[in-house]
Amino acid sequence: MTGRSNRPVDKLIVSGGVPLHGAIRTSGAKNAALPILAATLLADGPMTVGNLPHLHDITTTMELLGRMGADLLLDERMEIHANCSNIREFTAPHELVRTMRASILVLGPLLTRFGRATVSLPGGCAIGSRPVNLHIEGLVRMGAEVRLENGFIHATARRLVGTQLVMQQVTVTGTENLMMAATLADGTTVIENAAREPEIVDLANCLNTMGARIEGHGSGRIVIEGVETLSGARYAVQPDRIETATYLVAAAMTGGRIRVMDARPDQLRAVLDKLAETGVEVTAGPDWIGLDARGRSLSAVDVTTAPFPAFPTDMQAQFTALNSVAHGTGTIRETVFENRFMHAYELQRMGADIEVHGNFAVTRGVVRLTGAPVAATDLRASASLVLAGLVAEGETVVDEIHHVDRGYECIEEKLAQLGARIRRVPM
Ligand code: EPU
Repeated sequence: MTGRSNRPVDKLIVSGGVPLHGAIRTSGAKNAALPILAATLLADGPMTVGNLPHLHDITTTMELLGRMGADLLLDERMEIHANCSNIREFTAPHELVRTMRASILVLGPLLTRFGRATVSLPGGCAIGSRPVNLHIEGLVRMGAEVRLENGFIHATARRLVGTQLVMQQVTVTGTENLMMAATLADGTTVIENAAREPEIVDLANCLNTMGARIEGHGSGRIVIEGVETLSGARYAVQPDRIETATYLVAAAMTGGRIRVMDARPDQLRAVLDKLAETGVEVTAGPDWIGLDARGRSLSAVDVTTAPFPAFPTDMQAQFTALNSVAHGTGTIRETVFENRFMHAYELQRMGADIEVHGNFAVTRGVVRLTGAPVAATDLRASASLVLAGLVAEGETVVDEIHHVDRGYECIEEKLAQLGARIRRVPM
């Protein structure tokens, strides 16, 4: 596959109506890769991180680490060799944080290893206000001194001290930041009400390979015994469950039959159950998932998003698109983010019948969507528009696809491999 997905201003042109058939491979998980790359800041020796997806956010993270003084080499197999022994800048600047909120993930590692960190406050974004108060409160409870000034978080600490942290709300990157901070803290840290997402497990496994002592990851109670140093290691990022599931929804919507290789069915139970409820046949092996729409029309489903293991918010937009062409009425309740229905208004422009009431959307399936020029405001929203384009009559032009490129490696190549009529055109 080429690296074309990094162009920020292209459009995708999709001609709908082709059922998807064939097999594709899942790429490495963006939301596991980002914290794992931040964790290289903790290593005393060279780290090699493999199975990285070719995505904008990975490039941004490399730029961020590079500016801090990390020596980075990306080889042709998309493995990053990182040496963070000469870090001399402890700042995540505004221009990088504003393009990638996950830059906040350097806060915990910098603070715990070097005793200082300055990170631009991420602020709101297209899916909600998304504060980072719980990251900061946790670090303060571990002994950090934190000032918020001029739009930056300024944090210092001599050595963080292990303590009991009860998270008021389940937060994925918050849990990751605090878990990383705790690896080099003095004593034991217990994170209660921790996020249980598979990306937390991948990060903890990577940290343990580096010499950390973490237990309980994957449960709501993570126990981290601080150690003096962490060493370099070699680690491969797990496959991207959201990418896998997005292609499965595409196959269902188009009435196709596909197999997604390098998949983790154990991480997608809630999504696979919902897909089965639409009437498609889902099969799975240890590292693949198959979907066969069996030529039947889909039934609309009711979905409520919530932290793992419940239905992921990152699949909500794709199921809104699915419901818009399914038989009957489906409801979507978004409980994780306050403002994640921007895609609904673009889907309406393609003929979808969706009513949005706050964090609740009611969709009445229509016989067909019609192609239209559409633009998305965030990553999963733009994926839902591509899916809608795959079944719409005529041509759909999806603009602002730098959002898609943040999370889907070579989306048009993978879809074309499954038979879709889709092409990328430069502006
Ligand atoms: N929250 C707070 N205070 C905090 C942290 C979070 O109030 O200090 C709230 C948020 O505003 C939100 C809820 O807690 O309402 C959950 O947010 P969370 O912190 O879990 O989200 P995140 O860590 O910022 C990650 C993913 C998102 C994914 C969410 C939920 C990464 C880099 N990002 O974000 O991924 O939607 O968890 O699963 O891991 C995406 O890939 O499209 C994406 C947005």
